[in-house]
Amino acid sequence: MAMENFKQFLFALSAAVTVGFVSIIFVLRWVFYFKEGLAWDGGLAEFNWHPVLIVTGFIFMQGIAIVVYRLPWTWKCSKSMMKFIHAGLNILAFIFAAISLVAVFDFHNSQKIPNMYSLHSWVGLAAVLLYSLQLVLGVCIYLIPITPTYLRAAFMPLHIYSGLFIFSSVIATALMGITEKLIFGLKDPSYKDSPPEATFVNVLGVLIVIFGGIILWIATRPSWKRPSEQVLRSLPTNGGGSVGTEVSQHTDPKDNGDTRRRSGKLEDSGQVN
Ligand code: HEM
Ligand code: HEM
Repeated sequence: MAMENFKQFLFALSAAVTVGFVSIIFVLRWVFYFKEGLAWDGGLAEFNWHPVLIVTGFIFMQGIAIVVYRLPWTWKCSKSMMKFIHAGLNILAFIFAAISLVAVFDFHNSQKIPNMYSLHSWVGLAAVLLYSLQLVLGVCIYLIPITPTYLRAAFMPLHIYSGLFIFSSVIATALMGITEKLIFGLKDPSYKDSPPEATFVNVLGVLIVIFGGIILWIATRPSWKRPSEQVLRSLPTNGGGSVGTEVSQHTDPKDNGDTRRRSGKLEDSGQVN
């Protein structure tokens, strides 16, 4: 990664991490300062686990998991180690999301509130189910070494698209949830009177959108992609022969990774994994 490019990457990454941390502080302050805190008692304090675990796990951790391959200082680590980190962070994010759903369903059941009536709950549950499918397919196709390379290569564009699609849906679901909670929870003064809690939590929503925007930006920059293993291996020796040809192919700034997938030679040698 050229120096100028590296500085831009570092700027985007620091912005994402900072906005992500501030979002976590905001959701904690919302729950502890404006709301009832956290408890597992079937009441409002149990509901509060729902936004806290979603923001920390399903939004922040998932966002970091998505960009983890892009960190240039990890390019010297093996691809399989990075896969374990990517998969591990995604599994952790899934566990957080699952516990957050248990909290809200348990809260609804103990308060005799109907389940699954809102658009928020429909899109949210669909996102969690698709996420679990993405996890299972990701583990089976990329982590278990028996999957043939052609299948790994064929599935990669879909894996990337569905990962970014699910992540975007999660951001949209969080915004709906925040709005619902403010409408339900603020009475006298109500949401339309803009009490401090409403303004504060609106800002949380804006931060979540910014976080999502930066993660999507990082994940869609072709020149910030982790180079193929051949390129990485060839760098110290400065390449040569056919490897050199591949290096020039892969360092093309317009390369969006498809070159790697189209190259039968690279696919055969297991680079699309
Ligand atoms: C309810 C999922 C984020 C607020 C629900 C329900 C689901 C869900 C499936 C239905 C529970 C039931 O019917 O018993 C999600 C997902 C999220 C998310 C996947 C990931 C982004 C949030 C956030 C808030 C929130 C950040 C903010 C406070 C609510 C509220 C309810 C609820 C108020 C109860 C009303 C309703 O069922 O729509 N959520 N949620 N959600 N969620 Fe979320
Ligand atoms: C790449 C999402 C689970 C393996 C990606 C990318 C996204 C993504 C958005 C593109 C990243 C980039 O271009 O730098 C997700 C989501 C998952 C998930 C949301 C969980 C629900 C998994 C699992 C594995 C896996 C369990 C198994 C190891 C990979 C691989 C890449 C990738 C090998 C290609 C990285 C590269 O060559 O640059 N994933 N993923 N993913 N993912 Fe996942």
